[in-house]
Amino acid sequence: MSKVKTKFICSNCGFESIKWQGRCPECESWNTFSEEIVESEKEKNRSAIRRSNYTVSKLKEINSVESDRIKTNITEFDRVLGGGLMPGSIVLIGGDPGIGKSTLVMQAASLIREKVLYVTGEESGRQIKLRASRLNVDSENFYVLAETEMENIVCAMEDIQPGVIIIDSIQTMHKGDLDNAPGTVTQIRECTSQLMKIAKTTQQVVILIGHVTKEGMIAGPKILEHVVDTVLQFEGERHHSYRILRAQKNRFGSTNEIGIFDMHDTGLSEVKNPSEIFLSEREKRTTGSAVTSSMEGTRPILLEVQALVTPSNYGNPQRVATGFDFRRLSILLAVLEKRAGLRLSAANVFLNMAGGVKIDEPAVDLAVCCSIASSLLERNVDSSYVMVGEVGLGGEIRSISNIEKRIQEAEKLGFSNIIIPRNNMRSVGSRTDIKVIPVDNLTNAINAVLL
Ligand SMILES: Nc1ncnc2c1ncn2[C@@H]1O[C@H](COP(=O)(O)OP(=O)(O)OP(=O)(O)O)[C@@H](O)[C@H]1O
Ligand SMILES: [Mg+2]
Repeated sequence: MSKVKTKFICSNCGFESIKWQGRCPECESWNTFSEEIVESEKEKNRSAIRRSNYTVSKLKEINSVESDRIKTNITEFDRVLGGGLMPGSIVLIGGDPGIGKSTLVMQAASLIREKVLYVTGEESGRQIKLRASRLNVDSENFYVLAETEMENIVCAMEDIQPGVIIIDSIQTMHKGDLDNAPGTVTQIRECTSQLMKIAKTTQQVVILIGHVTKEGMIAGPKILEHVVDTVLQFEGERHHSYRILRAQKNRFGSTNEIGIFDMHDTGLSEVKNPSEIFLSEREKRTTGSAVTSSMEGTRPILLEVQALVTPSNYGNPQRVATGFDFRRLSILLAVLEKRAGLRLSAANVFLNMAGGVKIDEPAVDLAVCCSIASSLLERNVDSSYVMVGEVGLGGEIRSISNIEKRIQEAEKLGFSNIIIPRNNMRSVGSRTDIKVIPVDNLTNAINAVLL
């Protein structure tokens, strides 16, 4: 009898160790090591079989056209993918439990013109059918397989020859020739690499659904994210009905694009005009609220920045930022204090990007500063203004990108004034519906917008 070798593998980053450790030396997470079999007799035999036929091609001679992409026919989904599913690629979709991953892929599957094989390891065929009836999904090309064993899935793929295979979820799949339980690092890695080999040789598209851990990372090792071509994150606030699909990694498209959906009982519907949603609950007559425009990929989105400044009775004032970088907030507070003369050092500052969005673009700096100033001084921001601009450490307003698009969006939503950095004026055409006001420093901008 050969001895079965085991190793301890970190379920977060895939770090391997011969003995158990409480804390992973690689990713520093606690209690993530689990014992896994790495080399059984079966595996040894497997590794003895080597592939020796390969083809080297000249780059010039490889044919590829952009129109090859398989459209999901959900515009928002296609946009995030960079124009559709690339044949031979693997897409990983991660998201919190119940956020709507299965719903999204099912709706896409029914609209894709190719054959789709939906493999579910979590639900039975009947449950899938129930969901399909609720979503009004009915397609000739939609095949369902309730299975967790990779061998069977591969056989079904060969029989049906689908253009797209959906695996819901990768954590439930397992290969019979490995002795590890489903969901372990080895199983996830092996199942994914088998699917990847098939995808690359047959040009089928594989969509994997992945669970996320408590911290919001895709469960299983980081390696999974390296192997796949595209990593999409499906996120949303539990208490809001809209969901955001974001690309974290995309070998075939921009990672800045987002897709916005609205969740109903009949499924997800696309949000064509996100600015309207983000501004729909705006209270125009409160202090500390300013509207700005942020670029999400190629689209400008108008959103509301909210600030609340209160006196701090204790020595240590609190600063809380939701949806905005905390360090950036600290910098802007320092600039406001020093360059605009606002006394903020003894004040609690709470900042919120309304609607649960996360923004990491410098163009929203100006709106952040104006909303803080508004709350501190108890003066409203004029609700007909949109403001964009990066704030420099000297209190100057620096130029930003895509100014024309941002102005157009503000104009479209009926705003009558927009404040922009003076250096951007060169690239702005003449306007009739919206007044474009250039500013060069923070104090002037604050004076212009506060009533
Ligand atoms: N009858 C219904 N009416 C309205 N919304 C519903 C209904 N049924 C389900 N939903 C919505 O669909 C969500 C579940 O969607 P889905 O099963 O696609 O999520 P999931 O991300 O695949 O979840 P899991 O991680 O458990 O597989 C629920 O959280 C709920 O918001
Ligand atoms: Mg699901």
